[in-house]
Amino acid sequence: MSDYQYKVTAAGRINIIGEHVDYCGGKVMPAAISLKNSVYVRPNGTDKINIEWTTLPDKVSLDIGRLDEYRGLKYGNYQAGGALMWQRAGHKVVGCDMLHDCTVPFGSGLSSSAAIEVSTIAALATVAGEQFDPVDVALKAQQAEREYAGVNCGIMDQYAAACGKKDNAILLDCNTLEREYIPLKLGEYSLVIINSNKPHSLVESRYNERRAETDEAFGILKKYANISCLADLSVEEFQRLGLLLPATLRNRVRHVVEECNRVNIAAEAMRVGDMVFLGRLLNKSHKSLSELYEVTGREMDALAYAAQSHPACAGSRMIGGGFGGSTISIVRTSGISDFISFVLEKYNRATGLVAESYTADISDGITVEKIQ
Ligand code: GLA
Repeated sequence: MSDYQYKVTAAGRINIIGEHVDYCGGKVMPAAISLKNSVYVRPNGTDKINIEWTTLPDKVSLDIGRLDEYRGLKYGNYQAGGALMWQRAGHKVVGCDMLHDCTVPFGSGLSSSAAIEVSTIAALATVAGEQFDPVDVALKAQQAEREYAGVNCGIMDQYAAACGKKDNAILLDCNTLEREYIPLKLGEYSLVIINSNKPHSLVESRYNERRAETDEAFGILKKYANISCLADLSVEEFQRLGLLLPATLRNRVRHVVEECNRVNIAAEAMRVGDMVFLGRLLNKSHKSLSELYEVTGREMDALAYAAQSHPACAGSRMIGGGFGGSTISIVRTSGISDFISFVLEKYNRATGLVAESYTADISDGITVEKIQ
């Protein structure tokens, strides 16, 4: 790796609270983690981006003039999508060799795709000698996920991957992109990530289905309320107008409105370091994702409810798009090892699957290091 010029990284992410509200203009509270995608990069003087991986045997060569043509690649499509969106925005993309080293497990719900897209764009800018704004990189990476990978996602994952800050959560308003960093005051508690290892199935199409449902609900409600996005709807307005919606859409909107409310309360709990109270909000968030938004499924429910039933746990919920992926739990540090073995065993008995836990620190988003 020493013959590369730069090491550019972007982070995976957790989300403390604010799930399935980013694309409704709500506030979210993600944090970047130390599981990340690192890109070792050097210019190669050609019109190709040559990609290799530390963990995969594949080698891919992308033609800079035909970046639109790599959607079907099993590996390399996120890189191609990121490069294309960066190029379309008027930036110079130069030929280079990249070695990708991804420690975010694929399919874990910890946003390996955002880490790859963001680090690829930041690496391309760096190798072209260009200064970049991490927010701009996040927006182009989101565009890649939407227009190239076909997932109509919000901005949360790419924003956290790019703009995360060590030992801080980001309170991000997804409507205005205003942000506040909130220092983590965990006290005698720690954050524990557990991956359900549930095999992926139809995750993207079900995610897009939820987006379509919230768009439809917004289309109906905006005729009756002065709102610019669904997250603008207050609890009182929902109580007044909710009955205009068919039952399923009503449940979806109720989740969005109440989750947005929970984020505001959680921000206060975070500021004063009240982990017990924050934990209760996590539990409520999970229940809402399960019963109203219906994005958890049997496995994620088994995992979160097993965690919630352990005495050292202040709260637990699934994070990310759902239908698989990971949970985060707030756990008294002294009880972590007992907590983990308890949850893994209970989950295994309920589902037959073997979950795994990760220790990850809350870290910076993009980092750029000159190697030589
Ligand atoms: C995925 C998407 C995000 C967000 C979450 C749910 O991770 O990429 O934009 O919508 O799901 O909160």
